[in-house]
Amino acid sequence: MPELGVNVDHVATVRQARKTYEPDPVWAAVAAELGGADGITIHLREDRRHICDRDLRLLRETVTVKLNLELAVVSDVISIACDVRPDQATLVPERREEVTTEGGLDLVTHRADVAEAVKRLHDAGVAVSLFLDPDEPQLAVAAELGVEAVELHTGQYALARGSRAAEELTRLAAAGRQICQAGMALHAGHGLNYHNVMPVAALPQMHELNIGHSIVARALMIGMTEAVREMKALLRHAVQRGGA
Ligand code: PXP
Repeated sequence: MPELGVNVDHVATVRQARKTYEPDPVWAAVAAELGGADGITIHLREDRRHICDRDLRLLRETVTVKLNLELAVVSDVISIACDVRPDQATLVPERREEVTTEGGLDLVTHRADVAEAVKRLHDAGVAVSLFLDPDEPQLAVAAELGVEAVELHTGQYALARGSRAAEELTRLAAAGRQICQAGMALHAGHGLNYHNVMPVAALPQMHELNIGHSIVARALMIGMTEAVREMKALLRHAVQRGGA
């Protein structure tokens, strides 16, 4: 069975909407672990739009499963990763204006920069995964860089409908074979949800799935009734006590 890395970025997105202290991604990580998460994934973006340095520091201290840090190939964020030393660093492309990570790294164009980042992370004792589209030339470069894993970008599969989804799944399967034949671990993520995850989870040798948005969205919906019940109970108690 593949391991599940739970991405808690969007818990921090809700917190940052009010620039307050709740909801805390550190608490969410504990709750995810209690639910059976095999890993906690966070993306320390350059603009710190959700996860911030304090979250990374605390999660490094509190997460008892694998801590997977997604980060761009940018020197100062790589320095932070080398300092904090998560169990795994996943290198991703990053553009400030994007809503989420919109494609895989372009290793063919940026090979030298990625190679330098991989070396720095390896020297710090951090395992490296590269977030790539299921494209043969990209995967061939990954194999040459000596990384531990490749995370396949499943965004196109998640967006596709009908026969296009089957075609995208075939692409992912072929890419998965190439990754495993090169001796790297097969990971996948992006856009996976409760409807589309099973065919990807069933790909041979799938080792790790990283899922964020759909789990956070479902957690909100499952928790809403109870949260309202608690607030109503407070209102009831307030009246019973005879006011402030
Ligand atoms: N894997 C990587 C490399 C990502 O950048 C993201 C999005 O932050 C995910 C997985 C999770 O994607 P989603 O939130 O769509 O489940």
